[in-house]
Amino acid sequence: MANFLFSVAFGMIMLERTSWYFFVSSLSEDTSSLGSLVFVSALYRHGDRTPVSSYPTDPYNNLSYWPVGWGQLTNIGKNQHYELGQWLRKRYSDVLPKMYSREDIYVRSTDVDRTLMSAASNLAGLYPPEGDQKWNKNIDWQPIPVHTVPESMDEILAGKRPCASYDAELLRVKTSPEMRRYNEEHADLYRYTSEQSGSNIHDPESLEFLCNTLFIEELYNLTLPNWTKSVYPQKMMSVSSYSFTVPAKTRLLQRLKIGPLVRQVIRHMMEKRDGTMKPDYKMTMYSAHDTTVANFLMALGIFDEQSPPYRSLVLVELWKNDQAEYQVKVLYRNSTTHDPYNLAIPGCASVCPLEKFADLLKPVIPVSWEKECKMGIFSDDFTFNSLAIIALMVSGVLAVLLLFSVVFGIAFWRKQKVSSNYYYHQLQQDVS
Ligand SMILES: *[C@@H]1O[C@H](CO)[C@@H](O)[C@H](O)[C@H]1NC(C)=O
Ligand SMILES: *[C@@H]1O[C@H](CO)[C@@H](O)[C@H](O)[C@H]1NC(C)=O
Ligand SMILES: *[C@@H]1O[C@H](CO)[C@@H](O)[C@H](O)[C@H]1NC(C)=O
Ligand SMILES: *[C@@H]1O[C@H](CO)[C@@H](O)[C@H](O)[C@H]1NC(C)=O
Repeated sequence: MANFLFSVAFGMIMLERTSWYFFVSSLSEDTSSLGSLVFVSALYRHGDRTPVSSYPTDPYNNLSYWPVGWGQLTNIGKNQHYELGQWLRKRYSDVLPKMYSREDIYVRSTDVDRTLMSAASNLAGLYPPEGDQKWNKNIDWQPIPVHTVPESMDEILAGKRPCASYDAELLRVKTSPEMRRYNEEHADLYRYTSEQSGSNIHDPESLEFLCNTLFIEELYNLTLPNWTKSVYPQKMMSVSSYSFTVPAKTRLLQRLKIGPLVRQVIRHMMEKRDGTMKPDYKMTMYSAHDTTVANFLMALGIFDEQSPPYRSLVLVELWKNDQAEYQVKVLYRNSTTHDPYNLAIPGCASVCPLEKFADLLKPVIPVSWEKECKMGIFSDDFTFNSLAIIALMVSGVLAVLLLFSVVFGIAFWRKQKVSSNYYYHQLQQDVS
């Protein structure tokens, strides 16, 4: 009895302390001026997967080691995203109702098995069926739609829709003095890994591919070949991490590769503020890749040059306070043992007024993505107009020429009529 009383008393003290602690922590975070959360964009990488590909001398170049196939989500990966979904449920229980509604959330994935499956696993953790949404008493899961478009048509999330200006700019960056110097500094590493692996390692990206395969094999407790000892993990990992900066190294690359996604995230927040969002979502969720996460962080100027781990998550939160001011918080969750990092975009505080946020990111937002992707002269309106005038003049001259040749042609044809008929006759005979 005394024990019991003691526990109750102690529990009350603990409760008292906890609420006091929460009070202090909320004050220190200054959540009062943040107000309440009204909208979230969540972008994440898929969970644990098998290697996307092997390398020629790989002792584990055999699907018996990877029964789910190359580049596929594993059961570990499904669990990672299921847990991330539960984490999101906890974090956003105030803004996101527990009962699923298509008016609350929109989910989009790249058209790749592992991202589609990650989204499905995540949603299983976020929306376990409750009440009359429980449709089968034996299954603690309900279907939630995940939208996608083919990669070759997806400039928003997959970033794989063809874009000539992007390709040209990437080539320029890859052949720039800075990149040449970087590659020269790592030439020995490229040569050694090429010889040993049997693949063509010539830049950070090709090295990242190989490094990633080794990383997964090690994760799966497979013994790596002896040749890797001198270069893996340190040397290879460092180049690998650097490779994630390349696809969005310049403002132009960012604008064309990930700008459409940044634009959508900002547009949604503006619509939310203006009350014009239809349906009036609470969350949009994007299921994608390490490159997507890295490119997005690059565009925001907050990438830490470390490979985004499985299920790494970027949150862009929109808050509204009592003065009806809208502010943006960007969070990066790259670990399960550390709270998400609240990152400040350059030029603004870690809590940034929406207008300022949008202003600062203007340079990476395409005005017309399709037009900007067209190469060189055609993307320049002024030059395009003068080109159009020249084209009109040339076609005018050609039309006059055509008219002349038709007139002369008819005259000639009339003279030759008899012999032409003869030829036609011949031809028909030949055919039959
Ligand atoms: C892959 O491994 C299985 C089982 O160990 C073996 O039977 C098969 O021959 C291997 N295939 C190749 C292409 O090495
Ligand atoms: C690798 O081994 C460790 C230690 O035994 C274990 O915890 C881990 O689950 C193993 N990894 C895989 C993918 O089986
Ligand atoms: C790798 O190195 C270890 C010890 O350094 C050695 O015992 C082993 O035989 C080597 N393996 C191969 C395949 O050369
Ligand atoms: C996670 O992200 C933060 C912020 O970018 C960075 O400082 C930290 O080193 C990262 N941790 C890991 C494990 O990548």
